[in-house]
Amino acid sequence: MSAKIVNFNLNGRNIDAMVTPLMTLQNFLREHLGYTATKTGCKQGACGSCTVLVNGEPILACLLPVEDVEGEQVLTLEGLTENGNLHPIQQTFFDTFAIQCGYCTPGMIMVSKALLDQNPVPSRQEIVGALTGNYCRCTGYEPIIHAVEISAQKMKVAGEES
Ligand code: FES
Ligand code: FES
Repeated sequence: MSAKIVNFNLNGRNIDAMVTPLMTLQNFLREHLGYTATKTGCKQGACGSCTVLVNGEPILACLLPVEDVEGEQVLTLEGLTENGNLHPIQQTFFDTFAIQCGYCTPGMIMVSKALLDQNPVPSRQEIVGALTGNYCRCTGYEPIIHAVEISAQKMKVAGEES
């Protein structure tokens, strides 16, 4: 198998890259582009720390060959921050102490964004369900669930005011 050129949109930016077969999106983002918000945990699809959004859906970047995102829209945590302003979910995780070591945080926030984009008023059970594939070794999950609940409220109010 030979290298091929892949084109996709990353955080609103067009990317053209020569990639080797089966290079993962996780590896490409971190090692080739320096987008290190996408974390490296288990590398086998079990921890959720590498979660990015592809066309708005949470995807484990450690399992996804980068050639599979040809023509797609990829969003990483870096793409949530606009003009230096944190996204409401990022700000809420920070404000509500839902972050300890922070290693799980990018994946948790990306999953939360996908959830709130699709379901702006999720129940606690729906939040737990959305986060179920993402491991956190520090917080005991309660602060994270609470942060998603608060984020939903803030985003709803902001949407009503705009
Ligand atoms: S590093 Fe991808 S799921 Fe753990
Ligand atoms: S904050 Fe440390 S793993 Fe979640």
